[in-house]
Amino acid sequence: MNAVVVYESYWGNTASIASAIAEGLGGGAQAITTDLASDQVLALAQLIVVGAPLLGFTLPTDTMRKTLPGKMDAPSRADVDHPSMRAWLAAMPAGSGRFASFETRLKRSPGAATKRIEKGLEAAGRTRLLERERFLVGGTYGPLLDGELERARQWGAALAEAMGRTH
Ligand SMILES: Cc1cc2nc3c(=O)[nH]c(=O)nc-3n(C[C@H](O)[C@H](O)[C@H](O)COP(=O)(O)O)c2cc1C
Repeated sequence: MNAVVVYESYWGNTASIASAIAEGLGGGAQAITTDLASDQVLALAQLIVVGAPLLGFTLPTDTMRKTLPGKMDAPSRADVDHPSMRAWLAAMPAGSGRFASFETRLKRSPGAATKRIEKGLEAAGRTRLLERERFLVGGTYGPLLDGELERARQWGAALAEAMGRTH
């Protein structure tokens, strides 16, 4: 099974979860940023797992992204070097594979980033494999709560198993 994990991440929490999911998926699956997730990579992928942080109650908008490098209370400068997940989804070529989506976020917050992600992937013709998943941080910039990386590995393994059942 050819699977790839594509993520948007400003302070590394979503990137860490993406890597743990790729580990759980096994079979050489990799976690990559939007600029590396080219049409060629997507054409080969039977499963695309897509994740982003929940910012301002939704998938980060262009307006939100512009404010991130100026956050004075952040532990590091926001990584805005890659195309946004919104832009990547809008440019996604049509395909027939499966997908799953996840977000990193605080425990108690309205909104979801995964709703938008699912919409974009479905618009491109892909079919959901499992329910969307959320992974939790303890504060505005992280860190991930204890056990979340292990849960991400397990979710990756569950995705691989579900793919096995559908093929
Ligand atoms: C400007 C800003 C807005 C945020 N808005 C929300 C929000 O609406 N809901 C939520 O649950 N978490 C919110 N968070 C927390 C992030 O979702 C969380 O830190 C996420 O893991 C960041 O992912 P990253 O490190 O991959 O960029 C916000 C964080 C920042 C810095």
